[in-house]
Amino acid sequence: MGSLPLPFSEKPEETMKRNKINIAVLVSGGGTNLQALIDAQESGILHSGKIVLVISGNPDAYALKRAEKAGIPTAVACAKALGREGAEARILQLLDTYAVDLIVLAGFMSILSRDFTSRYDHRILNIHPSLIPAFCGVGFYGLHVHEAVLKRGVRITGATVHFVNEIPDGGDIILQKAVRVLDSDTPESLQKRVMRQAEWKILPAAAEAVSLKILNEENKP
Ligand code: GRF
Repeated sequence: MGSLPLPFSEKPEETMKRNKINIAVLVSGGGTNLQALIDAQESGILHSGKIVLVISGNPDAYALKRAEKAGIPTAVACAKALGREGAEARILQLLDTYAVDLIVLAGFMSILSRDFTSRYDHRILNIHPSLIPAFCGVGFYGLHVHEAVLKRGVRITGATVHFVNEIPDGGDIILQKAVRVLDSDTPESLQKRVMRQAEWKILPAAAEAVSLKILNEENKP
């Protein structure tokens, strides 16, 4: 008599190991950081995680087009339309449906509640365009960060990837990269250089490092 197939729970452990975790990227704007993650996935820099979903807080975000072009499912959770609680409830539902292990905030403009962040402790990353703890916290977003850097006259700025907790820009730091400030800089030119030299490099690198750590923890004997 031929052997019967084993039920899933009795299959040898080896066959149950996965080699990628599921990543959701949350966006609100142009999506250049999302693009860096997509490119890193295509080049193999990001190989321990797969972007399974892009959620936008803004229905008109160009980031949605970038996701569609890359064949990644998209959804919108707009706090203006649904209220903050409604938008968070929608996001939680989507994360559950797509079995998301890691959330990457890439220019997502809403501040997540303590209830939300505590459900994903050390499972949410954010990219911030300065060297935290400088020029961060409430009110420091977009061009405001670079305006403040130029106003204060610092010679070095950069970007930071950190875990997200209930304090805006307050979670543990994962990676940072410094960028020189030039005398000729405008907020716009500095923003572009920080993105090109720092953000687009450290965000994929941090996403890979955290994905690999989650996989390794899961696959521990
Ligand atoms: C980036 O500067 C990022 O650091 C900040 O929001 C901006 C998003 O830009 N959190 P993009 O949408 O990725 O182009």
